[in-house]
Amino acid sequence: MDKLVIEGGVPLVGSIEISGSKNAALPLLMAAILIDDEVTFTSVPDLRDIRTSVMLLDLLGCPGSFAPEQGVVVRRAAELRPEAPYELVKTMRASVLCLGPLLARLGQARVAMPGGCAIGARPVDLHLSALEKMGARFELEDGYILGRCRRLHGARIHFDFPTVGGTENVMMAAALAEGETVLENAAREPEIVELAQFLRSCGARIEGEDSGIIHIQGVPLLHGCTHAVMPDRIEAGTFMVAAGITGGELLLRNCPWDELETVIGKLEQMGMSLTPTPEGVLARCNPDRPLSCVDVVTRPYPGFPTDMQAQIMALMCLAEGSGIITENIFENRFMHVQELVRLGADIRLSGHTAVVRGVRRLNGAPVMASDLRASASLVLAGLAARGTTTVQRIYHLDRGYSRIEAKLNAVGARIRREKDED
Ligand code: EPZ
Repeated sequence: MDKLVIEGGVPLVGSIEISGSKNAALPLLMAAILIDDEVTFTSVPDLRDIRTSVMLLDLLGCPGSFAPEQGVVVRRAAELRPEAPYELVKTMRASVLCLGPLLARLGQARVAMPGGCAIGARPVDLHLSALEKMGARFELEDGYILGRCRRLHGARIHFDFPTVGGTENVMMAAALAEGETVLENAAREPEIVELAQFLRSCGARIEGEDSGIIHIQGVPLLHGCTHAVMPDRIEAGTFMVAAGITGGELLLRNCPWDELETVIGKLEQMGMSLTPTPEGVLARCNPDRPLSCVDVVTRPYPGFPTDMQAQIMALMCLAEGSGIITENIFENRFMHVQELVRLGADIRLSGHTAVVRGVRRLNGAPVMASDLRASASLVLAGLAARGTTTVQRIYHLDRGYSRIEAKLNAVGARIRREKDED
């Protein structure tokens, strides 16, 4: 296992290129199963989960290749296979997004139940009940979801919760189903909009993907295309916080703006200055105005994204005053709190809320990563802490951030990646 050794206290100054979005690329790659043709994705981030997805596509009969500069090419499947094995699914929950496409094209699927993870149980009951309304039948056997259907048919579906993965699974299944599917209380994340745009460019008939009510008219066949993956709004938000927490100034190239509206609003409310320019978004602090804490409530898009909760908490640890962070999406997404407290932060937990009181300084210490965004939060805190912070188990980090220490060191950070004994 690797660890990152961070010497803190350096204001970050320079420019960083935002990579393609992990949470857009993963469903897009699973959507390739629907396409009876070759598909090319460019601007694909170089992440472990991308390589895992290409391996899964190979196992399912969709031969794929990934080259960081070129992207991913998925060739037409000569013969699809129904099984996504546990050995692979246990490393990447998003594998469950092959369920809808396999049922739509093959009429069967055997997908390992994605276990829970550090941030919560993360069941897939909403995915299954929606696909059942479209004609699928499921059994759970030996830790696998066995799905079967003749031909999926359209249905009117209402999600109790606007699940991102559930919306993606149903949208993909409905693209080839017989008749119309209406999906109500659907997720509206930018990654959902991107998936709909990709499917439309392959011949799908989809409307309303940004509205929460999606209409999908099934078609018999989808053709290939080339698609550039959108930039990663969460990576961008993470680097905005890096500029704020170190008192630096970063120009974020290829940076989304509209998709980050609530994050930008909160960072500006704290006292950061974020300016769109022709070269990218300029993120900096106001030198004569210290940052101040704010209240943050995570909600489904367009609310404040849960994937930015740990990062803005790190920023609040060194801001003036106090703020309340309420996590509404996952039941256990405060694993970073105790690690931040080890660095000297003043945070008190009570159920779904964390009360953060800013302190004058954080002091470096060894800390343990537990999940992707918690890891990012610890790296951010380490960049600002006095002395050396060691972040262990950073394989979590490598799932969602491509070459993070190279990008940060290029703007002045002092981070070393080392082998970890434990
Ligand atoms: C996606 O996960 C993202 N992952 C997550 O990003 C993100 O945090 C999440 O959406 C919310 O925005 C990818 O896109 C690969 P959900 P997903 O289904 O689809 C409950 C990151 O850090 N739920 O919207 O799994 C679930 O337990 C990752 O990049 C059910 O109860 O999220 C959770 O509490 C982390 N039953 C809530 O809904 C279901 O059938 C949100 O889950 C499905 C979900």
